[in-house]
Amino acid sequence: MPQSRIFSGIQPSGELHIGNYLGAVKNWVSLQRQYESFFCVVDYHAITGPYVPDDLRRRTRDMVVSLLASGVDPSACTLFIQSAVPEHTELAWIFNTITPIGELERQTQFKEKSARQESILAGILNYPVLQAADILLYKANLVPVGEDQVQHLELSREISRRWNAKFDPAYIAALEARSGAAAESAKESSAEDLVGFFPEPKALLTPTRRIMGLDGQAKMSKSLGNTIGLLEEPKDIWEKLRPAVTDPARVRKTDPGTPEICNIYHLHKAFSDPATVEHVAVQCRTAGWGCIDCKKVLFESMDRELTPIRNRAKEIRSDPSVIDEPLARGAEHARDIAGDTMRETKHMMGLT
Ligand code: AMP
Ligand code: TRP
Repeated sequence: MPQSRIFSGIQPSGELHIGNYLGAVKNWVSLQRQYESFFCVVDYHAITGPYVPDDLRRRTRDMVVSLLASGVDPSACTLFIQSAVPEHTELAWIFNTITPIGELERQTQFKEKSARQESILAGILNYPVLQAADILLYKANLVPVGEDQVQHLELSREISRRWNAKFDPAYIAALEARSGAAAESAKESSAEDLVGFFPEPKALLTPTRRIMGLDGQAKMSKSLGNTIGLLEEPKDIWEKLRPAVTDPARVRKTDPGTPEICNIYHLHKAFSDPATVEHVAVQCRTAGWGCIDCKKVLFESMDRELTPIRNRAKEIRSDPSVIDEPLARGAEHARDIAGDTMRETKHMMGLT
């Protein structure tokens, strides 16, 4: 079994929010020394919606600052910008030629995004194909992401299997041997355990795989305006936390609540120590605390984790070389590996 490689990507939406941080980036940081890791700011994905070029440039840079401040360490991983490695779009084109449109139209994110557009761009439909190319270019088998990406990863696996079954002679031979054996024993054959030229990447999820927005209604998401930014100033964080939705049954301070249905309790589980989480749950159930008391304690826990990150971001911004040098090194390393994968891929496909 080859050594596991990690790949993950994030769109350059500017500042990270705590959903991105808890669902994905914190996991990148804890895994980056355990596996050979590639982390990418996916600007080609970001241009599938309307945007202003100068804003995209600034947002891409700000995202790199947020990642570095969160603890992504370029001496332990490969950090780069997607458009610095042209092989991503080259492999995406190839994968487009083996992907049925129906599978792309079934993607939940496509349905959501296209419902908001009058004229649907082909880039939105093909977005997950580019994502599969991102991952498979590095033959990564593990992908630390939030829950909303699980369906995209399912498609990446499908694309990998389909390409291997069309173009990888060793994989095709193994499939044929397998189906012969399966026919004899009248069993269903499954290709899941066969290792082909491209691996089948799996999602790595955290317990905080789906952070809800402050409205308590939907996933925390920049486009819904229900986020807390990772680098926001404490007073701005408190202004957002104070009115955030809690258990609706707690109308008065004396009403007992149910922590499990309260978004603030779930944020405690992400930011507070276990003893505090336990205490919060008891205070909520017995109406010992009002929701504001509970939020004040959450604010303190968040501040403990986020203040060092915010301070690091300020330091990083004051020294451009801290950003530019690792990105240049990262892109060079990524291009080396991506170039090798493309040479082999094209050869196997009869592209000279
Ligand atoms: P994006 O900003 O859409 O590029 O997302 C970057 C990463 O953050 C992906 O791995 C997402 O799955 C993850 N993510 C985004 N929103 C949330 C959320 N509300 N809860 C948990 N993870 C999230
Ligand atoms: N689609 C992902 C998101 O919106 C971002 C992404 C692009 C990604 N390429 C990737 C995530 C490859 C993991 C692996 O969050």
